[in-house]
Amino acid sequence: MPFLPSRRLTLSAGMAASVSALMPGAPAAAKAHRFEIGPSDFLLDGRPIQIRCGEMHFPRVPREYWPHRLKMIKAMGLNAVCAYLFWNYHEWNEGQFDWEGQKDAAAFCRMAQKEGLWVILRPGPYACAEWEMGGLPWWLLKAEGDAFLRTRAEAFTGPAHRWIEEVGRHLGPLQVTKGGPILMVQVENEYGFFGNDLEYLRGMRKAVERAGFDVPLFQCNPTHVVAKTHIPELLSVANFGNDPEAGFNALRSVQRAPLMCGEYYSGWFDVWGAGHRTGGVQSSVADIKWMLQQNGSFSLYMAHGGTSFGLWGGCDRPFQPDTTSYDYDAPISEAGRIGEKFEAYRSAMRPFLKTGERLPAPPPQKNTMALAPFTLEECAPVSAGYPADPVRTRELRSIEAYGISRGLVSYKAVLPAGPEGVLKVNKARDLAWIRVDGKEVGTFDVRHERTSVAIPARSRDAVIEILLYTIARVNFGVEVHDRKGIQGPVTFTPKGSAPIPVENWELRAIDFGANGDLPKLNWTRDKASGPAFYRGTFTATSRDDTFLNLSNWGLGIVWINGRCLGRYWSIGPTQTMYLPGPWIKKGVNEIVVLDLTGPDTPVVLGQTTPILDELRLERDLPKPKSKRTLALANTSPTHSGAFRQGSNSQDVMFETPAKGRQFCLVSQNAHDQKGFSAVAEIALLDKSGQPINQSDWSVAYVDSEEVASLNGAAVNAINGQAADFWHTAVRSADVRDHPHYLAIDLGRTIEVAGFRYTPRQGGDGVTGRIKDYQVYVGDALVVEP
Ligand code: GLA
Repeated sequence: MPFLPSRRLTLSAGMAASVSALMPGAPAAAKAHRFEIGPSDFLLDGRPIQIRCGEMHFPRVPREYWPHRLKMIKAMGLNAVCAYLFWNYHEWNEGQFDWEGQKDAAAFCRMAQKEGLWVILRPGPYACAEWEMGGLPWWLLKAEGDAFLRTRAEAFTGPAHRWIEEVGRHLGPLQVTKGGPILMVQVENEYGFFGNDLEYLRGMRKAVERAGFDVPLFQCNPTHVVAKTHIPELLSVANFGNDPEAGFNALRSVQRAPLMCGEYYSGWFDVWGAGHRTGGVQSSVADIKWMLQQNGSFSLYMAHGGTSFGLWGGCDRPFQPDTTSYDYDAPISEAGRIGEKFEAYRSAMRPFLKTGERLPAPPPQKNTMALAPFTLEECAPVSAGYPADPVRTRELRSIEAYGISRGLVSYKAVLPAGPEGVLKVNKARDLAWIRVDGKEVGTFDVRHERTSVAIPARSRDAVIEILLYTIARVNFGVEVHDRKGIQGPVTFTPKGSAPIPVENWELRAIDFGANGDLPKLNWTRDKASGPAFYRGTFTATSRDDTFLNLSNWGLGIVWINGRCLGRYWSIGPTQTMYLPGPWIKKGVNEIVVLDLTGPDTPVVLGQTTPILDELRLERDLPKPKSKRTLALANTSPTHSGAFRQGSNSQDVMFETPAKGRQFCLVSQNAHDQKGFSAVAEIALLDKSGQPINQSDWSVAYVDSEEVASLNGAAVNAINGQAADFWHTAVRSADVRDHPHYLAIDLGRTIEVAGFRYTPRQGGDGVTGRIKDYQVYVGDALVVEP
């Protein structure tokens, strides 16, 4: 579709400036300001200012609560709020922009201004943020190719620059230079993590400037890649959750400018099927104080995390979908409640307020209510929501190629009579259930690259039906090119014969679209078997917040009064869903639950507190057993040595570089003499000591990992985030002693000249810091029979 500015766009763009002037307490006669970057300070109207910012994503908080949460942020001692814009949230369909209601970014900025907060705007085009595809719209994937996102390819920059232009029309009038609250604008997001094309970054900077932004522009990057993509035209800020000194030193090495942490991690996000993560209080308070004492500025990621309502939650690489709760263990909880962390942060900031700056008391917390258990009596099988006319196609391509954005897709084809065999698809993203003549025979699961299923012998032609469920597009790393659906070629291999193609498919999709729209359904009181929608009601006597307990159900989506609340999955760690009071009606409310595997009993209840940390992995889809084994016996280590104690990263260069497709770290013992190993990050270095791109890496083998009681999955050691870590098993039944092995598949054979080990972060007491080690580089360190 060609780009046509929508009517809504023209209206709202014009309105932004004029209405803002009429808003009570908003920029009305607000005076324009000058905000500049001095050699060592940010300068507001020529006077130094330290930015104490906190992140809150307005789509993750009900609009009715924006003022409440902004007041909380102010009361914590912050003077600014950081706002990402998620491009796909505003342009789910190409050329049709939506800035209304919950999506009204300008209203959010004006509310922030009213509460006395400056705004730091981060319009993307890429954001990350555990948000569907990192904020990129799915329709970009209609273009061919696997490596054009976040590059100078026209298929990306064309739409991305138009988006930035639209942002300028909408929010440009709210810059400080025009009397609004927007102080600074970020260009791209952690680009150094992804690429190194400085021309791409410069192009994006120019697009922001062309869109009418005349306030200072900046880029953010994790400490270790600050230097990689620094350009003098953009202020660099560093993102980290510990070791602020290293972060500030990285900034000093590239520029003479005020020091700022662009994202200081107050906690961390959760993914389905792995332990709940939290962030310490004492260590972060110490870091915050230290940064303020250094005349530094920062933005807390997150000050208030909120909820990835609707279908907006993202997915970590290579494929770990994020929970709907985005509580983040932030100082202001998902439901806007505060406690020890909030108080500790507040006390840390109080001494650094400017003379005359006021620290308001936090607003009262919102009430929560319980709802007695209620049964969802009505049902409609998923098939009741399919469109009458299927799409017919010989071979299967990704759903984007058929114009389907996300949701449920049924694929049907005929399999001729014949012996048993194996059905194999090229790709299945994300989960799928396979039935032959209505009988379930197995599942596909992207998490375990499970793409084949055994099919029984058939005495006559049989119908294969695959029901596919898309969870979320990956928001981080090269995997953002995350096309969904069953992707061909599809083959059937009868026992003892060669594969034959399976062709001529019928597709029927329930596309949930931008806002998670429900299809029209005919409800019955017959008991459902298989994937179905369930409907019921509950009566509320007040409009208070509640946490719906879904632990009784399988996996799917919840709607309240027609509004898509979000996804649930009883594998945890989240077992409840935050339902904000303003979305509840006094009296009768309708709830619809889609369940793909079926509930134990179709009962829901509301409780006054959330359950964020209860894993029930026994409720997951079957996980294939790995047949991989380690084959180190006949090779000698490329290098061996001992790591120093402490949390700092350590670079090790080999005497001579080694070549291979696999890298294996063997930990022989730990500094604390205990049997555990942990690693925050492993990076491999080239001859010049620079980290090698790790976007194609995967875990080839690990002897032990703790995914239950703490999120210690091995993949955490190669996800580029030092805040999380691989940790060997801690449950007594699974614990094993050193040596521990972590082998990485590098995707292709490369030359490795050394490596960087980042120990598990935190205080001296943390377990798993490795002492003696060996490393191997080779092509057959891990073998599969
Ligand atoms: C990065 C990104 C953020 C977010 C955090 C993790 O720093 O910039 O958008 O994804 O990681 O929560």
